[in-house]
Amino acid sequence: MKILLIGSGGREHALAWRLRKDDPKVQLFTAPGNAGTGQMGTNLAISATDLDGLTAWAVKEKPDLTIVGPEAPLCAGVVDRFEKAGLPIFGPNGAAARLEGSKVFTKNFLLKYGLPTAPGAGFTDSLSAYAYSQKHNRYPQVLKADGLAAGKGVIIAENPMEAAQTINRIMDQRIFGEAGRALLIEEFLPGREMSVHVLTDGVSHVILPIAQDHKRLGEGDTGLNTGGMGAYAPAPFATKELQAQISQEVVKPVLESLRKEGIDFRGILYIGLIWTKEGPRILEFNVRGGDPETQVLLPLIDTPLVEIFQAVREQRLGKLNVKFNSNHAVTIVLAAEGYPGTPITGTSINGLELELAGTCVFHAGTKQEGKHVVTQGGRVLSVTAWAPDLATARDLAYQRAAKIHFAGSQFRRDIAARLTLDASAE
Ligand code: AMP
Ligand code: GLY
Repeated sequence: MKILLIGSGGREHALAWRLRKDDPKVQLFTAPGNAGTGQMGTNLAISATDLDGLTAWAVKEKPDLTIVGPEAPLCAGVVDRFEKAGLPIFGPNGAAARLEGSKVFTKNFLLKYGLPTAPGAGFTDSLSAYAYSQKHNRYPQVLKADGLAAGKGVIIAENPMEAAQTINRIMDQRIFGEAGRALLIEEFLPGREMSVHVLTDGVSHVILPIAQDHKRLGEGDTGLNTGGMGAYAPAPFATKELQAQISQEVVKPVLESLRKEGIDFRGILYIGLIWTKEGPRILEFNVRGGDPETQVLLPLIDTPLVEIFQAVREQRLGKLNVKFNSNHAVTIVLAAEGYPGTPITGTSINGLELELAGTCVFHAGTKQEGKHVVTQGGRVLSVTAWAPDLATARDLAYQRAAKIHFAGSQFRRDIAARLTLDASAE
C-alpha cells in the first residue's frame, strides 16, 4: 500500500510509525516530513500547504490513501482538491474545516444550536469589539483571533487596559495577519481542560480515550502557552460516568447539529472541553488529531489505522468494531531553547538510538544532516511510552527522555503527574 502523509510534526511521525507497524510493507511518503519520517519512508520537498504541489504529486504517483495531519491544509481545502481529482484522502472537507478555521463561525454555530459553550460574540470591526469588551467588564476576559494563528491567537486579558490593547494588536495592527480580520470575545471559564477526540463519518462516531494536554511551558502550568508540552491518556478523572456525560451532553448534540447545518464531517473532530462547576463547556473545535495527543492515542488503538480511516471515508464506521487496548500512554515534549519564541535550530541531538521497550521517540522539529539529526523547530521530539498503568508509562517516558541530549533542551518534569480523580479540583 502506498500512503501520502501531509505534515511534519510529532503527530505525523507517530502516524508513520503506526502505519508501518500495521503494515511493514507500506510505502510511505511524507510532505514535507522530518528526520523521523525520513527514516520510515521518503520525505517530499513539498510544503503541507502547497495544494498545487501536493495534488500534482498525487495525480502522478496515485497513492492508495492520503492522510492529512495539520489543520492548515484542511482549512485550505486540500480534501476538496484531492476528491475532485478522484484521489482518496482522509480528513474533513474545507466547509467542515471551518470549525477550526474560524472561531467566530464556530461560536455562532454553537450558540445557534444551544450547545454548551462560553457566552461570547464575534466582531469584524474593532470599534464594536471595544464597545462589547467594555460593556461586558468581567475579568479575565478571553479574546481570540478568528483565524488560524498557530495556537497563539488566544489572549486572556486580566483588565480593561489589556483587553483594549489586545483588540488593537489583533484587529488594528494585525499581529496575526489575516487571522485578525475578525475577533471573538468570550467569558473566561475556570475548570479542567480535556481533549476529546471523536472519529466520525458524519453518521456514526467513536469517542477515543479522553486525553489531557499540558499547554503551558512551565511546571505547575506556569509560563507561556505552547502547542503542547506533553499529554497522557486515558485521563484518570475520565470515569465512565464522566464519559457518558460527555457523550450525551456534548458529542451527540454536536454531531446532530453539524448534520442539521449540512456539514458533512468525516475525520477526527477534536473537541477542546473545559469541565466547569456547571458541567462540560466547549472551548474550541479542531478538525484533526491533537499534537501531542495523537502520540498518546495511537498506542491505545488496536484496529489498523487504514481500516479505520477507510471506513470513515466510505461512511461505514458504524459497521467497524474499533478496538482499544487497556494500556496508558504518556508523551513528553522536548523543546528547543527559545521555544515558544524563536527556537535555536541546528543543534545536534544525541542518544536517539538508545532504545527502551515500551517507548518510542517521535520526531517533530528535526532534520537529518548527513549521519546526524539536528534540531529544526520549536518542539523537537515527543518521547512516548505505554504500559498497563499510568505511573509505569510515565516512568518509562522519563527514562527514555533522560537518554536524549541536545543543548538547551527544555521539558516539563510534571507531565501526567497530577493523578487526582476529582474533575472539579481545579
Ligand atoms: P483555544 O485555542 O480556543 O482552545 O484556546 C487556547 C487555550 O486558551 C485553551 O486551551 C484554554 O486554556 C484557554 N481558553 C480558551 N478559551 C477559554 C475560556 N473561555 N475560558 C478559559 N480559558 C480559555
Ligand atoms: N495539543 C493541542 C492541539 O493540537 O491543538
